[in-house]
Amino acid sequence: MNAKITSTAHYVPERVMTNFELEKLVETSDEWIRTRTGISQRHIAAENEASSDLSTRVAEQLLKKRGISAEEIDIIIVATVTPDHFAPSTAALVQNNIGASNAWGFDLSGACTGYLYGLETGSKFISCGKYNKVMVIGVDTMSSILDFTDRDTCVLFGDGAGGAILEPTETGAGILDSILHMDGAGGGLLHVPGGGSRMPATIESVNAKQHYIMQDGKKVFKFAVKGMADVSEKIMAQNNLTGDNISVFIPHQANKRIIDAAAKRCNISDNKVLINIDRFGNTTAGTIPIAMNEAIETGRIKDGDTILLAAFGAGFTWGSMLLKWEGP
Ligand code: UT7
Repeated sequence: MNAKITSTAHYVPERVMTNFELEKLVETSDEWIRTRTGISQRHIAAENEASSDLSTRVAEQLLKKRGISAEEIDIIIVATVTPDHFAPSTAALVQNNIGASNAWGFDLSGACTGYLYGLETGSKFISCGKYNKVMVIGVDTMSSILDFTDRDTCVLFGDGAGGAILEPTETGAGILDSILHMDGAGGGLLHVPGGGSRMPATIESVNAKQHYIMQDGKKVFKFAVKGMADVSEKIMAQNNLTGDNISVFIPHQANKRIIDAAAKRCNISDNKVLINIDRFGNTTAGTIPIAMNEAIETGRIKDGDTILLAAFGAGFTWGSMLLKWEGP
C-alpha cells in the first residue's frame, strides 16, 4: 500500500521584506542578491508569530480543503529546525491548536531536507496499515535565528510553512520511491552553534552571536548541487525514468543557481522546474511544500503527473522522492 497526498496548503507571514530593505541593514544590493541567489523578497514573521502559528494556519487549511475534522488525524509530524521551544514539540502545539484529540506526533529535525524526511516517515506509518491520516508540515521561522548584521546569511532566508495530509491508496499512485542521505561530516559548514546542550545560552554566547545560523556558503553550494543532482539522477535511473519523463521537478529553494545546475545535470527542462525563491527566499523545511501547494492551486500539477522532489540542507542531509500524482 502506498501513501498519497490528499490535501496541500501553505502559509507565509504577512510582512514582506524586500532586498531594498536589506540594503539598509547590511552592505549588499538588490542586484547582488537577485543575480547571485534569485531572491527578490522574503516573508518575515511578526514579533509574536512562531513556527506553531504558521503550522496551525497550514493545518487548518489542510483539514478544510480535505473536508475532514481534526479528530480524524492520527499523527502530526512537524519538520523544523526552528521549533517554538525545545519542549513541548511544535507538533503538540499544533495538535492542541486544531483540536486533533486522537493524534500523536513529534517534531523532526532534517533542516532543508526535513519535509522529505517527514513525507518518508509519514508514508511508512501509512503503508504499515495502522494509520489512515498523517499530517506532515514543513515549517521554519528562519528570522528567529538570523543575524541581520551578517550579509552572508540574512539575505538568503525567509519564514514560511507548507504541508500535506497523507492517506493510503491501492492504485499504485502516490509516493513511489525515495532516497535519503545524511553526512554529519559537513555539519560545521552550516550550523547554529549555540542554544543546545553543547553550548547552552549564556550572556557570553548570546553576545558572541552563537545562536544564529552560520555557513560557509561557497562550500555548501558545491555540496548542494552535487547532492541534489546525484540523488535525482539515481532515483530516476532506478525507476527507469529520464528527465523527459518528469512532469514537474520541485527542488528545495536555496539558490536559483543551485536549482538550475541540478536540473541541467538531470536533463530536466526549465519549464518543468518550479521556482518561487524570488518571492519567498529559502524557508528551509517550508520550500518544497509551499512550491507544491502553489503548483496544485494553479493547476500546474495534474492527475497522472510524475513529480520529482529533491532537497539538500544542514547536517548535511539530502534526498529525492518520486510521486505519481492522483487527486484525493
Ligand atoms: O539550504 C542550504 C542553505 N544554504 C545554501 O544553500 C547556501 C549555498 N550557497 C550560496 O547560495 C552562495 O554561495 C551564496 C549566495 C551564499 C554566495 O554566493 P557566491 O556566488 O558563492 O558568492 P561568494 O561567497 O563567492 O562571494 C562573492 C563576493 C565576495 O566579494 P569579493 O571577495 O568577490 O570581493 C563576497 O564578499 O560577494 C560578496 N558578498 C556579498 N556582496 C553583497 C557575499 N555576500 C554578499 C552580499 N551582498 N549579501
